[in-house]
Amino acid sequence: MKNSRREFLKKISAGSASLIVGGILPGFSAQSYARIIGSNENIKVSIMGVNSRGKALAVNFARQKNCEVVHICDVDIRAIEKCNKALQEMQALKPINYTDFRQSLESKNVDALVIAAPDHWHAPAALLAMQAGKDVYLEKPCSHNPNEGEILIKAASKYGKVIQMGNQRRSWPNVIKGIQELKDGIIGRAYFGKSWYSNNRGPIGIGNEIDIPKWLDWDLWQGPAPRKTYKDNIVHYNWHWFWHWGTGEALNNGTHMVDLLRWGLGVDYPVRVSSSGGRFRYQDDWETPDTQVINFDFEEKVSMTWEGRSCNGKKIEGSTVGALFYGEQGSLLLTGGNNYTIFNLKGDIVKEVKDDQKIDPRNKTNPSEELDAKHIQNFFDGIRNGSKLNAGIISGHKSTLLVQLGNISQRIGRSLLIDNRTGHIQDDKDAQQYWSRTYESGWDMKL
Ligand SMILES: NC(=O)c1ccc[n+]([C@@H]2O[C@H](COP(=O)([O-])OP(=O)(O)OC[C@H]3O[C@@H](n4cnc5c(N)ncnc54)[C@H](O)[C@@H]3O)[C@@H](O)[C@H]2O)c1
Repeated sequence: MKNSRREFLKKISAGSASLIVGGILPGFSAQSYARIIGSNENIKVSIMGVNSRGKALAVNFARQKNCEVVHICDVDIRAIEKCNKALQEMQALKPINYTDFRQSLESKNVDALVIAAPDHWHAPAALLAMQAGKDVYLEKPCSHNPNEGEILIKAASKYGKVIQMGNQRRSWPNVIKGIQELKDGIIGRAYFGKSWYSNNRGPIGIGNEIDIPKWLDWDLWQGPAPRKTYKDNIVHYNWHWFWHWGTGEALNNGTHMVDLLRWGLGVDYPVRVSSSGGRFRYQDDWETPDTQVINFDFEEKVSMTWEGRSCNGKKIEGSTVGALFYGEQGSLLLTGGNNYTIFNLKGDIVKEVKDDQKIDPRNKTNPSEELDAKHIQNFFDGIRNGSKLNAGIISGHKSTLLVQLGNISQRIGRSLLIDNRTGHIQDDKDAQQYWSRTYESGWDMKL
């Protein structure tokens, strides 16, 4: 652990005025933070949001030899049941179940919170966790809006905690190798990156106002987001397509590939971002684009694009997802797996590095379990000895911000000029309105 208990308690008492973000943390005491992880001790995690991705993460954390899943938290009691069942096969310990993850944060038996709840929860929950003395594994995107990402960076530093973002490809060996080859000049100077995602998602219809299901705590599902009436086409998963909770395909799948491009091209903040597209395929409640192209220009004579097609699954380069770098002497392709291919300027393959890791095709929710375990272990190294995280919050925020700027451009219908020293939008009041959000009363993110 980076902090001694004394240092930590000092920090927490300095920040104690803001410990009640989002309501009460009953019984919150300094003793809760007494635990320091010894090098041989298991890391104890609590998982927030265990319907789909969270369940897969719970199983993967539980199968790590140096970890125990001690709590699972969800506002859907059915999801908790499903996750309990899946965990039975992985660990002897039966986790304690919570509807309200804030109760789990009070426990001194928890070292880290794993957050796989919907996007509107990511940054507020991460902040509460750090204020409670926990490290955080935070699913992508790290935030719902740019301001939240900046708060997380400050909070990680203020509370001395680590945040690993769930862009797991940053820890996959052949992806690391491919990016290193790129940086070593295998295709000369790389100056353009193209990325994409395609799927055949169906319509979500027009939601009906119905009674809140008995299995769901709708108030706590909404948490920091201002209250709305419950409808039958939001929970689960479809919230992705509503700006109030979700961030669209751009941050759902774009974050992964744009992050690879930013990493490979070695850029941080752009000078200009523009987006075109819309909800073209169906007429329903879906608000975010189902068809979108975002362009990013950087001062370093580098550009990149992301193309998202939620409702036309035609592949590009034989893959539904990818990141392709173009350079002076050739191209380098990543297709979302643990592999890469290098082409010469004519487009002939000159090198192919294939996956040498075990991928279990029968595992539908988590086929890349073995690879993702490397990301989890890198997180543990960061917690235990301050090792550099492969997807720490500063880098995670920069990649998430790029796609958020794309969505802001999409929503106001024009290009954005960006200050490339800060990533902030220049001279555009309409665009700046989307820099942060309004919170439900009592849920403002306060450092
Ligand atoms: N890294 C990856 O490859 C990857 C893959 C899939 C999803 N994800 C991310 O994981 C997150 C979850 O995605 P999903 O597909 O599992 O969504 P989902 O809607 O299926 O599940 C979200 C779960 O969170 C629960 N939840 C909501 N509010 C909660 C609260 N206050 N406390 C506890 N639980 C709460 C919901 O009840 C639900 O069970 C998303 O942000 C998504 O972007 C990442």
